[in-house]
Amino acid sequence: MASGKRVDTGIHELEPMDLDNWLATSPRRLNRLAEALDCKTYLEIGVSEGITFNAVNVNTKTGVDPDFQFDWQALNDGETIRLLPLSSDDFFAQESENSRFDLIFIDGLHTYDQTYRDLQNALLHSHQGTVILIDDTIPFDVYSCSRNQEEAVRLREQATGVVNLMWHGDTYKIMPLINLFHTAYQYCTIMDQGNPQTLLWRAKKPREIDPLASMSTLWSLESLAACDYLWMLRNLQLFHPVSEAEGLDRAAAGAQAPIP
Ligand SMILES: C[S@@+](CC[C@H](N)C(=O)[O-])C[C@H]1O[C@@H](n2cnc3c(N)ncnc32)[C@H](O)[C@@H]1O
Repeated sequence: MASGKRVDTGIHELEPMDLDNWLATSPRRLNRLAEALDCKTYLEIGVSEGITFNAVNVNTKTGVDPDFQFDWQALNDGETIRLLPLSSDDFFAQESENSRFDLIFIDGLHTYDQTYRDLQNALLHSHQGTVILIDDTIPFDVYSCSRNQEEAVRLREQATGVVNLMWHGDTYKIMPLINLFHTAYQYCTIMDQGNPQTLLWRAKKPREIDPLASMSTLWSLESLAACDYLWMLRNLQLFHPVSEAEGLDRAAAGAQAPIP
């Protein structure tokens, strides 16, 4: 997520908030989950300056970023704090196949193909109680969907005269894939109190798919490249939109309940 002061898209009404509040969104959600699920291990893909990473209260934390924006070596102790200057693909390629994380935040490269691959690899390192938070699954506006941040900002300024660094990429296109193919997982998308983010956790039994929704989702997949901003607006229900309070409660309860 890049920053912006006023956020009102008409789809997800985010209250105007200052930058500090905006940056507190991910830590607040992750810490609520960490507490509810008594998480001991945390993985963050895309760490940047470490604002969220440093604010998450979990015993053992792993952060991965090919371009850390702070002195990561000073913080890294290789045990409770493991920071790896790698792309997510390279990290997962070298990570022990036995490693599992209780809580995972996917916030690396915001293209749908990379985010989808990060999700697949994160699932390999999950257990039945893991919750995964995926950033930027609802674009802020049509410009925000560009796969290139610089272009998003430039086109927005050209069309509206507003300079706003907000960029979500086309991460939202993972949602039809999750909806149709990942029926072993429950998910919902937090729409209020900050940046929209999707929560995903293992289902106790296959998640049901509405047959009509399934048809239109299938069509979307056949032309995934054509799933543009208007498609996203038309198909918002597919994202399972919820409030922050409801989403966190659902994920915590769903991931906590014992598998029969
Ligand atoms: C939005 S920032 C992360 C912000 C951070 N999660 C937070 O909340 O404070 C995105 C980061 O992803 C990193 N990134 C870009 N491509 C990546 C990749 N392939 N694997 C992992 N991280 C990547 C960028 O270097 C950037 O620092």
